[in-house]
Amino acid sequence: FLPPPRDLLGRPLRDLRLSVIEACNFRCPYCMPADRVPDDYGFDAATRLSFDEIETLVRGFVRLGVRKLRLTGGEPLLRRNLADLVRRLATIDGLDDIALTTNGALLATQAQALRDAGLGRVTVSLDALDPAMFRELSGGRGEVAHTLAGIAAAKAAGLAPVKLNCVVQRGVNDGEVPALVDYARVHGHVLRFIEYMDVGNCNNWRRERVVPSAQLLERIHARWPLRPLEPTYRGEVASRYGFVDGGGEIGFVSSVSAPFCGDCHRARVSADGALYTCLFAGEGVPLRPVIAAGELALADRVAELWARRGDRYSELRGSDAVASRRHVEMFLVGG
Ligand code: GTP
Ligand code: 5AD
Ligand code: SF4
Ligand code: SF4
Repeated sequence: FLPPPRDLLGRPLRDLRLSVIEACNFRCPYCMPADRVPDDYGFDAATRLSFDEIETLVRGFVRLGVRKLRLTGGEPLLRRNLADLVRRLATIDGLDDIALTTNGALLATQAQALRDAGLGRVTVSLDALDPAMFRELSGGRGEVAHTLAGIAAAKAAGLAPVKLNCVVQRGVNDGEVPALVDYARVHGHVLRFIEYMDVGNCNNWRRERVVPSAQLLERIHARWPLRPLEPTYRGEVASRYGFVDGGGEIGFVSSVSAPFCGDCHRARVSADGALYTCLFAGEGVPLRPVIAAGELALADRVAELWARRGDRYSELRGSDAVASRRHVEMFLVGG
């Protein structure tokens, strides 16, 4: 293992978020609006890293101190033979945590195989329980019943506790909040409310649509009293709260109202093998050539790139320093 590199702000590299596919079976307007990313957008399986390349990449990152891997997309369950990839990654010494972020539509049929392959846990996006609203928020592609079946299958397979992500937009799905809290409490899932972010270039983000976490917290606390919980690890993205009545916990991801760049230990790699040192980075750095040279060469290169990292977009949001900059699309780096 190499000494963990520190970036320009002293932050180590701890987590890798790896997209295994850029395509998705949903078209959530906040991520991949159907009018901007039509079905014939031109996704090309040939551009994606192979499982051999991915294994080399992950081994290289583990040499640099990465202990946690999150597989993302697009929609990762669309990647063919994903369980075979998980099985290979699960054997890597030093990797303590392998998680997956999914929209859940295909989870019911894959949860057990993923668990058997060594996946540790899943996070499922769930923006509404109302079938019509869920459908609308998925760009007309999703059925809430399928995602709920996926969540139940994940729990049954032992991919627990299942985390649920809800991106809240004012005037769109903020009315779903109580029903989602109730559902998560009844089933023992960890629900997290996420502030709507200005990711990518095509989601028509408007600050008025952001519901600050403090407001949601107040609303939820009035009905189900909450108390703050300690983070489970340094730099945890969600702030945690426990239900005073013992009904589990919920979280808030507040990257607009309370940015957390100071502790950001995350690197992102797109399905075609480009490194992004921030969710809001403009350009990625292609790693494929150096992957071909092996895990040590990859680790050296990433250490060099990490040492130059000064990203802290969410802390600079709205300032001239980052005005009118282009950002990578969310579906290329999986959030
Ligand atoms: P665990 O704590 O490991 O369970 O996962 P997580 O909460 O980091 O992962 P998840 O993929 O569920 O992310 C939750 C939300 O936080 C998503 O909307 C992400 O896009 C957002 N998010 C995750 N990491 C970052 C980050 O570094 N910066 C910003 N701005 N948002 C992030
Ligand atoms: N703002 C906040 N979260 C988003 N996600 C996708 N787009 C946005 C956005 N514009 C979330 C997804 C998923 C997670 C990885 O990122 O809902 O749960
Ligand atoms: Fe697909 Fe997730 Fe983006 Fe929705 S948020 S379009 S499910 S990648
Ligand atoms: Fe990390 Fe960039 Fe998110 Fe800040 S905005 S927490 S630097 S990914």
